[in-house]
Amino acid sequence: MPQEKISIIGAGHVGATTAYLCSLQELGEVLLVDIIEGLAQGKALDIEQALSILQRDATISGSVDLSQIAGSRIVVITAGLARKPGMSRDDLLKINGEIIRGIAEKILTFAPEATVITVTNPVDVMTYLVQRVSKIPPERVLGMSGVLDSGRFAAAIAKKTGLSPSQIHALVIGMHGDLMVPLPRYSTVCGQPLTRLLSPEEIEELADQTVHGGAKIVKFLQTGSAYFGPAAAIVEMMRCILQGRKKILPCSAFLNGEYGQKDIYLGVPVKIGTLGVEKIIELELDPAEKAAFDCSAESVRGMIKMLKDAHLLPQ
Ligand code: 2OP
Repeated sequence: MPQEKISIIGAGHVGATTAYLCSLQELGEVLLVDIIEGLAQGKALDIEQALSILQRDATISGSVDLSQIAGSRIVVITAGLARKPGMSRDDLLKINGEIIRGIAEKILTFAPEATVITVTNPVDVMTYLVQRVSKIPPERVLGMSGVLDSGRFAAAIAKKTGLSPSQIHALVIGMHGDLMVPLPRYSTVCGQPLTRLLSPEEIEELADQTVHGGAKIVKFLQTGSAYFGPAAAIVEMMRCILQGRKKILPCSAFLNGEYGQKDIYLGVPVKIGTLGVEKIIELELDPAEKAAFDCSAESVRGMIKMLKDAHLLPQ
């Protein structure tokens, strides 16, 4: 059976780990692309040899040439910079905005039929930029955020309760950042809402660990951010798309009135189909949850405005 082509743009830790994980799972033929000469080629060759040792039938290659993404079923964008000391969030937004805009233009030219998963931060804003520039229908452009954040929430709940993560369904919506919205009422342990099992103080502590889960890893690593968790989340999204697994996953999706928001990408539960977003699931939020979600939206809107002011968004 011919394998579907998966292109991963950016061969840093997140991109390379994603390439390795999806090759291990034989999800498709992987192309790793990076503008740094040799980086994608070297890592692809290393992965190819690992796959041979592990006896996996997967094909992987590396390139500096973005035109090679032609014919991709899925394009994952992990390229971009992480914040460096002395750099403001606005600086990062503009630098990554320029990089992502260039990549989205290439996707429009070479892979307009692909489903795109954006990972570069700030992810909700970058996903919006990718959709606007690539002109791919919003259903086929998603951001990776909620699977990772909800996974971190589930890991914290599993540790606290001493139960297997397989018994836990956690949910985090809103933006990927400090204003994300963990939803304890919709997070369950063997079907029971967290709000029935733990005290408000205990829940608050777990939510706090979730919101600061990424920052804690950055603090430990000093020179970079998380990549095993992000790669696992990307692969989970890819498996749903490629294998039609009909799961509901929290993803950054385009809202057109859902949750009272329009013309914005934010994390919400989405039924994933073979092309991308099949349906946005609208949960009933209580006033505090809705206020927190709106706060997330306001922050993302502010960043979209910065991109507009920097002339990075098409008119
Ligand atoms: C994280 O939360 C880097 O956004 C990524 O770890």
